[in-house]
Amino acid sequence: MCGIVGILGREPVALRLVEALRRLEYRGYDSAGIAVLEGGEIRRVRAAGKLRNLVEKLSREDLSSTIGIGHTRWATHGGPSEHNAHPHVAGRVAIVHNGIIENYKELRAHLQARGITPVSDTDTEIVAHLIDLKLEEGAGPKEAVLAVLEELRGAFAFAIIFAGHDNLMIGARRGSPLAVGHGEGEMMLGSDAIALAPFTSRITYLEDGDVVFLTREGFEILDEERRHVIRPVQFTQAASLLVDKGGYRHFMAKEIHEQPDVIGHTMAEYLDFGEGRVRIPGLPVDLAALDRMTITACGTAFYAGLVGKYWIEQLARLPVEVDIASEFRYREAPLAEGGLSLVISQSGETADTLAALRYCKACGQKVAAVVNVPESTIARESDAVLRTFAGPEIGVASTKAFTCQLVVMAAFAIAVARARGRIDDEREAELVRAMQQLPRLVVQALEHEERIAEVAQELAHAQDILYLGRGINFPLAMEGALKFKEISYIHAEGYAAGELKHGPIALIDETVPVVVIAPRDALFEKTVSNMEEVLARGAKVVLITDEAGAAEHGAKTFQTITVPAADPFIAPVLYAIPVQLLAYHAAVFLGTDVDQPRNLAKSVTVE
Ligand code: M6R
Repeated sequence: MCGIVGILGREPVALRLVEALRRLEYRGYDSAGIAVLEGGEIRRVRAAGKLRNLVEKLSREDLSSTIGIGHTRWATHGGPSEHNAHPHVAGRVAIVHNGIIENYKELRAHLQARGITPVSDTDTEIVAHLIDLKLEEGAGPKEAVLAVLEELRGAFAFAIIFAGHDNLMIGARRGSPLAVGHGEGEMMLGSDAIALAPFTSRITYLEDGDVVFLTREGFEILDEERRHVIRPVQFTQAASLLVDKGGYRHFMAKEIHEQPDVIGHTMAEYLDFGEGRVRIPGLPVDLAALDRMTITACGTAFYAGLVGKYWIEQLARLPVEVDIASEFRYREAPLAEGGLSLVISQSGETADTLAALRYCKACGQKVAAVVNVPESTIARESDAVLRTFAGPEIGVASTKAFTCQLVVMAAFAIAVARARGRIDDEREAELVRAMQQLPRLVVQALEHEERIAEVAQELAHAQDILYLGRGINFPLAMEGALKFKEISYIHAEGYAAGELKHGPIALIDETVPVVVIAPRDALFEKTVSNMEEVLARGAKVVLITDEAGAAEHGAKTFQTITVPAADPFIAPVLYAIPVQLLAYHAAVFLGTDVDQPRNLAKSVTVE
């Protein structure tokens, strides 16, 4: 998604803006640009494509300005070209924007009626013109921005500078995140703390509806009612974390290999290994009193929710509904007051998940959020936060955040089962012991990487791939397919193994590889009979199983990948490793942009 940065500093800002934008690359983008004030006049440099194109253009400019805004754009209105890249300029106004202005067509018509024809196809440029019109009518910059904000519908975060105003930058947010950075004699704006990491670790997170006026000397915030408010300055961990590839070729590879550690960190938060107990403090409801619950999320986080459903229903016998967040509120699910909704999000900024959260709250539900970014909007708006400790996840394809989400869901399921009297001390201790093995077993699963890379090269020649799983491995099949398609651009679908013969089996021939996820568990034989059905139709089967499964059925398959044998309870975490590695190595083999795949954004802050 688009990334915003603004610096009101003491030294030349052009290259500092680029440095900050580099930190935002992980969000996904297709053009970039900056605008600064040189001698009080706006100077703008933009480029389609990657930041190196912008840097190349900047090398031909002589910019010494100490105030500027920058942007990485992920196209929504208008293609990913230079003329649609931000900042947008109208008269004395330069603006960068993340989000979507829903009523931009009517605003555009209004401008055209005033004889103004925007030059780009974006909704953002309209806002620049509207502000400039107010300036023309005699308003000051603050007044002009406040008036225009009233006219906008939709979600946005803005950073705005004004020709002739060398000591003023205005930020505003509604729906999209925006943070203020505090430097020594300088102030900044950024989509997140990571963008500002090179310059400061002192951050103020704006609340929805806030407008902020920055000068080098300080800042002033108005809330959505336009009252002066004080928001706290926080020391953020994100700012101090070095975001680099740590010797790996891609962030995704680094993040896959960090899993033994981050799973360990996440478990340490919720599991007491000494006592064999699970502890989830601060939950806003009495788990024993629940009669149902809902989980909402998007993409990979949604699949973590589905795995969670299997765990909670099997262990705790509590009915769980899992919804894709983008659909949830549109089906107007009836939710009982005082009930529990869980939302899951790595970034904590996903617009659809945030909207689902707000819907649940409006229904009187208590919301607990499984999030990786503790300062995120979703974390701040929830009644309780169940943090994952995956650390910053930069690769667009979610890997370590997913397995950490699974750890939290597993711990949560045990806690619910315990609270509802469905498991006793002994069973709880047994499950905790099983989870305790995870870091070691994940290390062992990663040891098969070379072999998995060979299989991935075979899959990279396919046009379509099917992933099959049964029971709790069905969400894993969908996650495997999502991972594969998002970074290799090869079509892949995940199906419940038993559903295949109700339609998708028609797709099977010798050109369609089928990846079967089947630990040697209670459902193994059933999944294997579905595997036989596709083998009989000539499919090339890649079986992912443990040694026992491989010994029984590995001989029939095209390829077999083994995963360490483990308690079936923790199998979903372990089986995530080979599906991630398969996707990663296929993408590397194909030479795609693994960390920033085309068309995708890390944090999807528009609906
Ligand atoms: O930040 P979130 O967890 O809310 O993001 C949800 C999805 O956008 C995300 O999981 C997406 O599907 C990933 N690209 C999957 O790898």
